[in-house]
Amino acid sequence: MRPRVWVSRPLFGDIIDRLRAFFDVEIETEDRSWTPGEVAFKLHDKQGAMLGVADPVTAEVIAQSPQLRAVANVAVGYDNLDLAALTAAGIVATNTPDVLNEAVADFAWALLLATARRIGEGERYVRTDQWRSPSYNLLLGAEVHGRTLGILGMGRIGQAIARRGAGFRMRVIYHNRSRLEAITERECNAEYVGRDELLRKADFLVLVLPLTRHSRHAIGTAELALMKPSAILVNVARGGIVDDAALVEALAGRRLAGAGLDVFENEPALHPLLPTLDNVVLTPHIASASVDTRRAMTSLAVDNLIAALGCGPNAGRPPNVVNPEALGGIRRG
Ligand code: DGY
Repeated sequence: MRPRVWVSRPLFGDIIDRLRAFFDVEIETEDRSWTPGEVAFKLHDKQGAMLGVADPVTAEVIAQSPQLRAVANVAVGYDNLDLAALTAAGIVATNTPDVLNEAVADFAWALLLATARRIGEGERYVRTDQWRSPSYNLLLGAEVHGRTLGILGMGRIGQAIARRGAGFRMRVIYHNRSRLEAITERECNAEYVGRDELLRKADFLVLVLPLTRHSRHAIGTAELALMKPSAILVNVARGGIVDDAALVEALAGRRLAGAGLDVFENEPALHPLLPTLDNVVLTPHIASASVDTRRAMTSLAVDNLIAALGCGPNAGRPPNVVNPEALGGIRRG
């Protein structure tokens, strides 16, 4: 019998069709998030799944999905997966790194610029017909060029963001678990600093680290208090890295000048006060959402799933395994 796979949301049909050469495919037509109970129901008779970042695969889901052998996230992040439980069960998990680096870096800059130059406020002002006359004092924003760009989390996306800093003649500082090689630092024109120095010195602080139990609330009241009151925070990584309640307090009290946020702690729900603040630019987790990049991510996830389920030219060798210990393993019951 052909393996059965579940695709949790509507994705590019022409790319998903490649799965049909090997598998029976059940694809959702509605773009929505799934609860663990719903995911378990969908996966109880499936061997594989293509999932988004909001589709949780918990230990309970795994226990109720006895035939599951592979899950392919259409995302570089995989905090929706209980990796330890997947590995213990011998289920291969994959992600889609690299193909999104440049698109996410572009978007981080879009948010940074939009927040610094108050583009959201300006747009709302024009659309709501409030613009009556040119004014020298209208929506004065912060300079970007020549300022200090701070990056927390200096993987490949962080490096792509840093490289763009040269065009704005910025000083670029970063903090990361491990320091980059000197040649990469030079290429990114970036200086390594301690975490507190990064928080204190950055005029713009961009977060690009993965969400793990170590990075949860990496930016909270204490960290925000170290930042300049004139600073702007940009988060294109994950909700949960920032304590949204602490951020709202800092923004409302003008202890932080602004924030550009693509991700939120309980997304798609927002902290109720966030939309009431003028000094934030809010977007719905779309940093990687260019047509080309989302197609490339989908295509990579398809390649991963085909290979992880032992089919196609890379059978048994999926390109982007995040739990290699599970590879070649036999699903334990
Ligand atoms: C990722 O790739 O992790 C993004 O957040 C999903 O678009």
